Parts: sequence; structure tokens; C-alpha cells
Amino acid sequence: MKHLLIVYHSKTGHTEAMAQAVRRGAEHEDIEAVEVRFLRARQAGPDDLLWAHGLLLGTPENFGYMSGALKDFLDRTFYEVEGKLNPLPYAMFVSAGNDGTGAVRAMERIANGYPFVRVQEPLISRGEVTDEVLAQCEELGMTLAAGLEIGAF
Ligand SMILES: Cc1cc2nc3c(=O)[nH]c(=O)nc-3n(C[C@H](O)[C@H](O)[C@H](O)COP(=O)(O)O)c2cc1C
Repeated sequence: MKHLLIVYHSKTGHTEAMAQAVRRGAEHEDIEAVEVRFLRARQAGPDDLLWAHGLLLGTPENFGYMSGALKDFLDRTFYEVEGKLNPLPYAMFVSAGNDGTGAVRAMERIANGYPFVRVQEPLISRGEVTDEVLAQCEELGMTLAAGLEIGAF
């Protein structure tokens, strides 16, 4: 069994909707050998990262950066997992008002340190979350889960 961890923060529900869609994709009935753990950033800790074989991170863009809650998750876990983590395949999804690139840039710098290895392009949604974005989120979740299942990452 492979383990996929989804960690996200959301204040007004946009990233939450994206995260739920990512989860639906990851838990698609065709994927049998992947267990999904779905956590808000404030609930997640180092043991969750050590459990994971793959990681999906979701955040709003706040002040040109990831949300404080997601940053706090990373601050709380870095030393605890240092030296114990195999490079972890990851991807991220961002809900932004009109940009989103600052959150991606910040995450990518931090990912190098863990290390997390990017296996899909970041998914950025701007403004209201559309059905098209939700479909892309489902696809992202499914791609990560399927990739873990077949050992592609
Ligand atoms: C404090 C704050 C700062 C924000 N800064 C940015 C920003 O720098 N760039 C941007 O595109 N949107 C920014 N936004 C808009 C949010 O990213 C956007 O509303 C997002 O959809 C919120 O996600 P959520 O519903 O999951 O909380 C900001 C919102 C707040 C509340």
C-alpha cells in the first residue's frame, strides 16, 4: 500500500473546494493500492510526512506568499523529518485572487530543502473556483495517486 498525504489551508473555502476535488481524484475507485490522508495544515505534523510516499499541498496566496498556516506546518516539521525523509514526490495547488505565483515560488524554495520533488506543474486557480478548475484538481489527485500506485515516481 502506498500513502498519499494531502495538506491544505483555506480561510474562505476556495482552497478547501480544490482540496476536496483533489481528494476525490486520489480516491478514485480505479486506484486500489493507495491510502489517502487528508488534513488541514494545522492538524498535520511530522509523523504525517514520515508516513507519506507522496504529497499534495494546497494553499491560498496571501500577500504574495503561501498562507501562514501552511508555512507553520513546514516550520513545525522541517527539523523533525530532516535526514529521515526519502525525496518525496509532490505537487501543489493554489487559490489566488489574481496571481498565485508568489505562493508557488515560496513553496519551491522550501521544497528543495526537505527535499520534496515536484512531479506535476503547480495548479493555480484565480478568482472563483470553476468547474474546470475542480476537474483539473481531480485529475491532479488521480495523477499523483496513480503514479504512486504504479511506482512511476
Ligand atoms: C490577507 C490576504 C492576502 C491576500 N493576498 C493575495 C495575493 O497576494 N495575491 C493574490 O492573488 N490573492 C491574494 N488574496 C486573495 C486570496 O488568495 C483568495 O481570496 C483565495 O481564493 C482565498 O482562498 P481561500 O478561500 O481558500 O481562503 C489575499 C487574501 C487575503 C485574505
